[in-house]
Amino acid sequence: MRLRAHAGGPIRGRARPPGDKSISHRALILGALASGTTKIEGLLEGDDVLRTAAAARAFGANVERYGENSWTVAGTGRFAQPRDTVDCGNSGTAARLLIGAATGYPISARFDGDSSLRRRPMNRVIAPLSQMGARFDSGRTTLPFIVHGGRLTGIVYRSPVSSAQVKSAVLLAGLNAEGETILIEPERSRDHTERMLQVFGAAIDEVEFDGANHPRVRPSTLTGAAIYVPADPSSTAFAAAAALIVPKSELRIADMLVNPLRLGFFDTLAEMGADQVFEQRNDPIGEPIADLVVRSSKLKGVSPPPRRSPSMIDEFPILSVVAAFAEGETRIEGAAELRVKESDRIIMMVEGLRACGVNAEELPDGLVIQGAGPKGVRGGASIRTHGDHRVAMSFLVLGLAAREPVVVDDSEMIDTSFPGFAAFMRALGADIAEA
Ligand code: S3P
Repeated sequence: MRLRAHAGGPIRGRARPPGDKSISHRALILGALASGTTKIEGLLEGDDVLRTAAAARAFGANVERYGENSWTVAGTGRFAQPRDTVDCGNSGTAARLLIGAATGYPISARFDGDSSLRRRPMNRVIAPLSQMGARFDSGRTTLPFIVHGGRLTGIVYRSPVSSAQVKSAVLLAGLNAEGETILIEPERSRDHTERMLQVFGAAIDEVEFDGANHPRVRPSTLTGAAIYVPADPSSTAFAAAAALIVPKSELRIADMLVNPLRLGFFDTLAEMGADQVFEQRNDPIGEPIADLVVRSSKLKGVSPPPRRSPSMIDEFPILSVVAAFAEGETRIEGAAELRVKESDRIIMMVEGLRACGVNAEELPDGLVIQGAGPKGVRGGASIRTHGDHRVAMSFLVLGLAAREPVVVDDSEMIDTSFPGFAAFMRALGADIAEA
């Protein structure tokens, strides 16, 4: 469905965005690997996570939905041989984490995904998992392929990329590998797997290498746990951005995950001059949570340090939109990973911003945006999203503050991460309608 966003009234109110996608995937996967029952409250019921729920069933767990966002997973303590192909849809996280987990067991599983996931690099998990002893169909570095697991040996793996998906795949395999498994990455990526493994009773700790701490896991059995999923900061980012750039807005977000390894976008907004405050911080579940209050702000361009990229990797599309409404230049570097997301997000954002009258330029590992100021963005374009949910949401937000409406060519895929996005934004005053 095509959607159109118009500038209109302010973004105001209090809202609780859907549950965190990363934590939702992990709760289902660890629940399926564990013995006993895992109870999950606040699960994100987006398509990506539902793929993981279906996969958990295919690997032998009993997965049930007993209420809105409330699920139980009864695991058997191991992954069993699946009968059919494990279809991960659009989700890189589902694919890479499940591949890693599956290699720990003497099973063969065929993994596949949609046309976007079939283009995404899988050599980044094939390489370390092969070193541990897993076998893959010869030569293939993209889905579909068959994974043959069992009899793994722990490794010390120096990942060339900071990727929580790679790290998690290796750590999950390490649960069933002989000896210890250590994952070293250039900058620390989101640590939800490490935190949740602790909650499930795994033998996980940290070791120091090259002056930084890195996770280490030893063979472990997991026990079912109770997991609460806070609001996803990566989904919140779209509503927060709208409140910043639409005049006279004030938005309160309840119950947001504030894990520091996920807050690079908000750290960058603070440097741009955003009026945002975190309130009522607490840490009830092994992950920190807070309320966030955002008000319309006068923003200036920034150059976020490249080492911050892993903590804001999913927020670069919406950051590029916010930068268009700032005064001055925003220079994003050290974000080459954007090229291997659901689409090449560097190209998609540069093309879309230019179509909306914003001066943007591609870099090999990022982009440069010349801020047009609060009233300077024309909009008035029909945006090609290439099936990318975050590109679609970013340009709808742009349309809420541009002089002319913005249309996105497709919106169904928004459900992969933020089901009900348009209705959520409308309830806060946004003018988003079918085009
Ligand atoms: C995720 C890790 C990130 C992120 C993705 C979710 C995760 O990917 O982009 O949306 O849950 O581990 P990479 O690890 O590939 O950077």
